[in-house]
Amino acid sequence: MAESVTVKAPSSTANLGPGFDVFGLALDAFFDEVNLSKKKRKGIKIITNDHIPTNPAKNSVGLVVKAMQKKFKINNGVEIKIKKGIPVGFGIGSSAASAVATAIAFDKLFKLNLEPISLIKYAGEGEKASAGSIHYDNVAASLLGGFVIVRTNPLDVIKIEPPKNLALCIAIPKLDVPPNKTKVSRGVIPKKIRTSDSIQNLSNAAAIVVGFMKKDPEIIGNSIKDLIVEPARKHMIPGFNRVKKNALASGAFGVTISGAGPSVIAFAKKSSNLKKICSSMEKGFSKANTSCETIICKPCKGARIIKK
Ligand code: HSE
Repeated sequence: MAESVTVKAPSSTANLGPGFDVFGLALDAFFDEVNLSKKKRKGIKIITNDHIPTNPAKNSVGLVVKAMQKKFKINNGVEIKIKKGIPVGFGIGSSAASAVATAIAFDKLFKLNLEPISLIKYAGEGEKASAGSIHYDNVAASLLGGFVIVRTNPLDVIKIEPPKNLALCIAIPKLDVPPNKTKVSRGVIPKKIRTSDSIQNLSNAAAIVVGFMKKDPEIIGNSIKDLIVEPARKHMIPGFNRVKKNALASGAFGVTISGAGPSVIAFAKKSSNLKKICSSMEKGFSKANTSCETIICKPCKGARIIKK
């Protein structure tokens, strides 16, 4: 039996506008690597290269291991080494990627042979650390890769292969994000919504799914329109309106907040002028006295074991 397993998991963007907590897309922008090894000494030890909590109760990976240990009555000690490649707290699925990598590694290490949907369920436990509640959009995307639609009660995930020519530009503003950012940004979402807004969001969400089915980046991008969550959250991103306007004027088909933010993501295709879109987003942020890093990326496959 392997005594140590290393898994690499990709970043992801959640929501894609109208698909709050439902849509996720795996992105090759950044990757986390997690190594799990069995230890004689009981307990969970977390070692990391980043400034994230190493208390297992406060870290997504610790919560995943705790949940899996409890469910499968595994008492071994576990050491978790996290190599963070995904910026933490910027809405690009950092905690989800580490949680996914941990669930896969734990499954392999203890020969559980769980189905992907169970791994998604345990990885979702990790989201409590940053979001305060469970949501599966980022973990499902990071685990399965591609575009995912999450249904709950019962938990079910449908995956669609994205178009090969879909390209994305992400602008990651240099802001100080609080450790509980996702919890805060979930707190501003309205409890009541207008029927007319819900109708528009539903029609756009349906069109996004069609765009992925038809492998058409234009349909996807043109449907990235959210009348519910984006308006409630955008005040937390300095210069958001201008960043969005600039990217659309530079040829992006659609622009929205990536996950819970503060990154902003533009949907385009490979042949779009992606550098122009990126620089227009940079200019938008700089007008709001905020610098940002931009990255051009594409959808990618899900997490995989790289060493055992
Ligand atoms: N769907 C979640 C949210 C993603 O928007 O709060 C968090 O990364």
